[in-house]
Amino acid sequence: MYYSEEIIEEVRIENDIVDVVSEYIQLKKKGSSYFGLCPFHNESTPSFSVSPDKQMYYCFGCGAGGNVLSFLMQMENYDFVEAVKYLAARAHVMLPEPEYSQEAKKHFLLKEQLFSIHKEAAKYFYYNLYSERGTAALEYLEKRKTNLEVQKTFGLGYSNITAYDLYKYLRHKGYEDEVLMQSGLINTSKKSQGYMDRFWNRLMFPIFDVHGRIIGFGGRTIGEGEPKYLNSPETTLFHKGKNLYGLHLARVSRKQQILMVEGYMDVISLYQAGFHNVVATLGTACTSDQGRLLRKYASEVVIIYDSDEAGINASLRAIPILVSAGLTVRVLQISEGKDPDEYIKQKGRDAFEQALQQSKSHINFQVDVLAKKFDLHNTEQKVTFTTEVAKILAKLSSAIEQDAYMKQIAKDTSLSENAIQIEIGKMMQREVKMPKPPSKPVAYVKNYSTSKGFGHIQKNMGQRGIIEAQKNLIYLLATNPVVYEKVGAVLSPDDFLDDFFQRAATLIFAYNEKRQTIHPAEVVNSFVELEEQKLIAQIFNGQPEYKSGQALEKAVNDQVKLIKRHRIDIKARTSTDIEELQKLIEEKRRLENLYILFTDG
Ligand code: CTP
Ligand code: MN
Repeated sequence: MYYSEEIIEEVRIENDIVDVVSEYIQLKKKGSSYFGLCPFHNESTPSFSVSPDKQMYYCFGCGAGGNVLSFLMQMENYDFVEAVKYLAARAHVMLPEPEYSQEAKKHFLLKEQLFSIHKEAAKYFYYNLYSERGTAALEYLEKRKTNLEVQKTFGLGYSNITAYDLYKYLRHKGYEDEVLMQSGLINTSKKSQGYMDRFWNRLMFPIFDVHGRIIGFGGRTIGEGEPKYLNSPETTLFHKGKNLYGLHLARVSRKQQILMVEGYMDVISLYQAGFHNVVATLGTACTSDQGRLLRKYASEVVIIYDSDEAGINASLRAIPILVSAGLTVRVLQISEGKDPDEYIKQKGRDAFEQALQQSKSHINFQVDVLAKKFDLHNTEQKVTFTTEVAKILAKLSSAIEQDAYMKQIAKDTSLSENAIQIEIGKMMQREVKMPKPPSKPVAYVKNYSTSKGFGHIQKNMGQRGIIEAQKNLIYLLATNPVVYEKVGAVLSPDDFLDDFFQRAATLIFAYNEKRQTIHPAEVVNSFVELEEQKLIAQIFNGQPEYKSGQALEKAVNDQVKLIKRHRIDIKARTSTDIEELQKLIEEKRRLENLYILFTDG
């Protein structure tokens, strides 16, 4: 932890969650809570709640939740420390100098150095571009019709033709070889047995993170040459699949719609034409991290990939990823020119704007792509086509949407509405019969994903049950003194089944021992990962109500036994010692006879 618990708690208390959330979304009071449209998933009726008493938020739709710090982490993509700093400034709380562990200090310093190396490099490339040595590069940019203003906005530059230029410059600025190597901008050269630049004689595109800091580069050959683009490798700063080119600018455009293209030049050309809400995946497959990142800043995305086969396939792969991030997904297929860059240069801004109006919903796009593969005059092919269309529609969760698409597709393709309907029906039935996978694989579940059948506990369903049991028990231990009194005697935090629940239980046990009132929002402070904060929020919301004392007693007994039994099974599986195994068997036998009575006598 970087700051003391006291100071974090002070920052949290000084920032009322209702005020902070209201700076982002409109809230309406309903009973003792406030409700609004969830900023983390797509919805039309408010299921996002903020409780002024608990100082927590929780979305009944997507399960997002936490305290005011979690909210900023989720909303602004801050890490824990950044959120503390932001809220401290907002409430005029003075923060002390943070205390870092040795390890954290080293990592922090390395990152700072890498950021400044990238900044220096960008300045150097920029200087080159407008000096004599950059003549050819600048001419190339002019040929591609990028104006000076946009060149500056994107910080374009030129890496010189000699291969040690940047290396010498950065050494001169005082950076050590070891750090330079970690920046990805410098390589070792076998030939000269020394260091050399990764990029030379290329047009340079700095890659920014969401906060506008440079984290990597792409370099394009000037004219022909292979590879056409060379990019920074993965480094401490740069993770290609977690970033989107242009997002730092697109997000301040404050548009709910974002255009998603393939390349650097597509972004730059569209930006120059006045479309500032544009990002690029940089020629690689769109990832779920990118989907979540986009969802933070927009609700709708229009995929505008290259018009070739590869572009169409990449669009098809991106659709489910973006949909499951909670985005409304549309697709625009470029009709003239190979990509948005060429299109806008040939046809101009207005034509592009009009084309954008013609973008299709992802459903219609998928059906269109499919239709091209079948000859609809052939009965067999028509049947297969119908099944494939039904597959696409069956994924829609809204019956109204399903119906609307079905009608429209039937009209456009000469398919029978009735036949599609029947196929969808068949698929939905199959869906119902299939066992549901665990809700969302979160990090701590993964540790258990390799474990095979624990005796009578079924695989996936059993693990899910264990997670739910632990959530419920922690909730009861935190909110019901009788449960703590009775269960605390037979269960210890170590009995819980992974690091997260153990830490949560340790905390709750400690509060109980000190007889302190437990504030959920304060509990959240002890967890710096957003995923863990969300779990705490889930624990304090959405737990079942027990109708009677007996029902509660039975549930708690079941849960305690489930957890303890599982603990014993895990130990037994890893133990090779006969004596220990016998002890475990004995322990398990005793466990079966255990029953915790809530009322004495
Ligand atoms: N790309 C890459 N490495 C390559 C080719 C492409 O990293 N060897 C990435 C780049 O980010 C590029 C994007 O994929 O911008 C799209 O590739 P492509 O369509 O080939 O390039 P264009 O953007 O059309 O490049 P240009 O307009 O400069 O010719
Ligand atoms: Mn192009």
